Amino acid sequence: MKPETDTAKRAAGEAAATLVESGMRLGLGTGTTTAFAIEAIGRRVREEGLQVVGVPTSFAAERLARQHGVPLVTLDDLGLGDLAPGQSALDLALDGADEVDPALNLIKGRGAAHTREKVVASLATRFVVLIDPSKEVDQLGTTMPVPVEVLPMAEAAVARVLRELGGEPVLRMGQKKDGPVVTDQCFWILDTRFGGILEPEALASRINQIPGVLDHGLFIGLATDVLVGEPDGSVRRMKVEG
Ligand code: A5P
Repeated sequence: MKPETDTAKRAAGEAAATLVESGMRLGLGTGTTTAFAIEAIGRRVREEGLQVVGVPTSFAAERLARQHGVPLVTLDDLGLGDLAPGQSALDLALDGADEVDPALNLIKGRGAAHTREKVVASLATRFVVLIDPSKEVDQLGTTMPVPVEVLPMAEAAVARVLRELGGEPVLRMGQKKDGPVVTDQCFWILDTRFGGILEPEALASRINQIPGVLDHGLFIGLATDVLVGEPDGSVRRMKVEG
């Protein structure tokens, strides 16, 4: 990672950690930017006695949180069945993104964690997204493919429908492992280039209807805030346009 990108990601991550208050139930995202937030939250737990619990969105986030001393729980521990209608299970979810458009819609899943990330984000009162400026785009799909998590036996069938929808699906292959990337759910990933996506909400719901798809990396209407770390270490808040 370039040093200025590292500074920008650290700035966003550390700014996010200042939003955390004692008593909060947190969603802990995955990736290099959120790693800075988890590290800073762990520091506050040790130095200030901050009382929080976090739900990790991946094996990677779980390992990192343990390493930094952030107490962990599962969604089952939060007693979702006892919550009043409309009451959120989590106070604050923090996570990175691969693309953010002016309406704060996202593409996520470079680290193949988007399915758990979406579950956790959807349960939070506030979903704060942490990025560096390279993630800001005018239209989703312009720089990144949409990762689609698929049941291995359905890969060819799902790929066919994704092509009919105008995408170019490519099975994500492992590095330092032969064969496909296997997700935390033991599924595979079809990275699907669509080019600029004109109607992200419609595409998101269409992909969800394909039999064999677990979930995809389009996050529509979920982010409440986006913090952009800058290469000079300052942090800017993205506002919804329109
Ligand atoms: C994990 O699967 C992803 O959704 C990440 O949250 C996203 O790729 C952002 O990662 P970085 O913060 O490492 O750029």
